[in-house]
Amino acid sequence: MKVKWEDDLLTGIGIIDDQHKKLFARISSFTEAVEQQDYEAIEDTVNYLIGYSIQHFGAEELLMIRNGYDDFKRHREEHSWFINKVYDLHKSLLKKEISQEQLNEMRDILINWTIHHIKVSDKRIFSHIR
Ligand SMILES: [Fe+2]
Repeated sequence: MKVKWEDDLLTGIGIIDDQHKKLFARISSFTEAVEQQDYEAIEDTVNYLIGYSIQHFGAEELLMIRNGYDDFKRHREEHSWFINKVYDLHKSLLKKEISQEQLNEMRDILINWTIHHIKVSDKRIFSHIR
């Protein structure tokens, strides 16, 4: 399955949009890696997601706090939920206990959750603080 960046995902904040675009490239390669059962590429993406989720969500949260964004706590809960998923997946990888269900779940989260999160929750931040 191909996951393609579309411009309706733009938030209007350049640095955040650049990070989102890079994430999309990774989602696309993760999807292919899961299809091909390429565990090296899967691990590579999971390692990327660990750094990405901490750094990128941190950048968003900094903007929300600095701007006194009203919906910060709820938004941060969405981030925490995703970070916990990444943590669980990485832990299974470390223990070499990763299942196909977990990989499929992560692929679906990456595609569906991410698109929804950017289109609804992230766009809402940036329309409020602009
Ligand atoms: Fe966000």
